[in-house]
This record gives sequence, C-alpha cells and structure tokens, in this order.
Amino acid sequence: MRITLDEAASLIQNGQVVAVPTETVYGLAASLNCLTAIRKVFEIKGRPLNNPLIVHIASLEDLAPFHPSFPLHFEDLAEHFWPGPLTIVLPIDPNKVPAEVRAGLSTVAVRMPENETALKLLRKTGPLVMPSANLSGRPSSTLAEHVEADFGESFPVLESGLKKRGLESTILYYHEGAWKIIRQGALPKEAFTLILGYEPTIMGYESNEAPKCPGQLYRHYAPHAKLHLTKTFEEGMSGTILGFHGRKYPSKCHVISLGSLNNPEEIGEKLYGCLRELDERGIASAFVDIDFPLKGLFRTIYERLQKASSPFH
Ligand code: TXA
Ligand code: MG
Repeated sequence: MRITLDEAASLIQNGQVVAVPTETVYGLAASLNCLTAIRKVFEIKGRPLNNPLIVHIASLEDLAPFHPSFPLHFEDLAEHFWPGPLTIVLPIDPNKVPAEVRAGLSTVAVRMPENETALKLLRKTGPLVMPSANLSGRPSSTLAEHVEADFGESFPVLESGLKKRGLESTILYYHEGAWKIIRQGALPKEAFTLILGYEPTIMGYESNEAPKCPGQLYRHYAPHAKLHLTKTFEEGMSGTILGFHGRKYPSKCHVISLGSLNNPEEIGEKLYGCLRELDERGIASAFVDIDFPLKGLFRTIYERLQKASSPFH
C-alpha cells in the first residue's frame, strides 16, 4: 500500500514499521525511540537478533544523545560523504542506544541518507533504524513492488520517484589505527583515498581478520534460483544467463541483461531486480557471467553475487 510522507511519519510515531526509499535500497523504518517497533523489524524480516541495525539520521546533531566518540578523520568523512551511501561505525555510550539495535555491541552504525524523501521524513520523526526492506537473506528491494512481494500488498510503502543506486551503503569501521571497509557497497574503496590519504582495506577479503560486520556472515542477497558464477560459456549450453549487454552468449540460452560493462553504476542499479526476476519467472537456476575486472564498483557487485550464490545459510 503506497502512503504519503505525512502518513509514514504518523505511522512511525505510532510505533508502526514502514518501508522508506533511500538512495541505495528501500529500508524498513522504525523509530529509534520505540522498542516494540524495533523488535517488529526483526520479526517482519526474519532477521537474526545478533545482526545489528543502522541508525539513520538527518543531521550531525542527531548523534549527540548517544555520546559517540569520533575516530580520526570522522568529521572529514561525514562532511565529504554525508548525506550519501556511507555508513560509519562509532563507539557510543551503550546506555544511550537500545541493545537490540546494536545487537549487544558497544558501537552503533550510522548513516545520513541522500534521498530527499528519506531526509524529510527523518526531520519529522527523528532517528530511524532501517535495515534493507527485504526478507532476511533475500535480494534487497529497489522498487516498491519488491517490498510488496516480500511483505504483502497491504504493507505501507513510502515512495519516491528518485533513482536508487541499487547497492547498499559502504560500511567503514576504525580499527587498529586505520579505517577498514567491513561491508563493500555503493562507494568503492578508491573513493576514500582523497579524504583519508590511503585506501581502506576490505576486512575478510584483503585482510584475514574476521569481518566485524555480523550481517556479512550469512548467505545473502539470494534469490531462490541457484546461481552458477562462471567466466566461460560454450555454444552447447542452454538455460538462463545473467549477462552483459553487447556480449555474445550461446545461442540456445535466454539472456537477462544486467547492463553494459562500461557502466557499473547501471549494473549496480539493476542487480537485485534481475535476481528477483529469476524467481518471478520461476527459473530454478541460472548462470551468471563474472568475466569482469575486479575494480571499483565491480568488487561490490562480485561480492554480492558470491554471497547470493553461496550454498550456506
Ligand atoms: O544502504 C543501506 O545501508 C541500507 C539502507 C536501507 O540504508 N541499509 C542496510 O541495512 O543495508 P542492513 O540491515 O540490511 O545491513 C546493515 C549491515 C548488517 O550487515 C549489519 O551486520 C551491519 O550493517 N551493522 C550494523 N550495525 C553494526 C555495528 N555496530 N558494527 C558492525 N556492523 C554493523
Ligand atoms: Mg540487508
């Protein structure tokens, strides 16, 4: 059910959960002040309680009540990337943020979204927790229809016609004297060099340290269809391929195009919609073309595909 900004604000203020657009993907929003609504978010998504939520804010002043401590370069990162698809993990006074939100950690993940509708809503309601608006483990939602497919036609969805990047925010965490990426996302690691003077390493990928982001441990972003990632296609193959515009694939295959390799932003935007399309069409398995250079946004796209094709739950 599509709702207006005022309806969304009033539902949230009354302890309800609503879907809200951001510049990355749709979020499932609940007020940071309402524990019942926060618990509802976990329940509706089927999300494990040990997976913390991102707190969304409209201004830096919204952070003050948590008594956060700001690691080196925090102000520069916030000034340069907020509002925008960057989430920053901050040590806070744990007494000031419900344990459910932080899954018992002594940090909280924070971001200021760029989408004007989301910002207007946040100015009315105050800070909101917002995990991606999808059933836990499934592809995120980039359209209102995706939210309705997961939570039903009557679920309240605030819409905005604005384009979405389609990939979730990048999460940074300050650890042992340097910023690390604990979830790759809409901002590739190259984006941070100018501000930090170095490229943050990607934890669990470029460094052997265990990921600090609980949500990264699961199979994720996954359609019901089984995905086979491959760089080679032979003429005798048949079935469905998630591939790229302008590439030649076996003639008997049905190709769903993720976009052009010259335009990784477009691929990011279409990725979850294409994964969902497999299920909408009842396709049981598909090949995915992963013959692309692992740089910039392609690293995030590759990571999402790996998680989506993982056999582990
Ligand atoms: O783009 C986004 O970030 C979207 C939109 C709606 O804002 N939100 C989103 O939330 O992707 P979610 O819940 O689907 O993913 C949040 C990730 C999870 O993997 C969680 O483990 C991690 O953030 N996270 C949250 N709080 C954390 C913390 N204090 N320390 C480390 N990781 C944390
Ligand atoms: Mg998610």
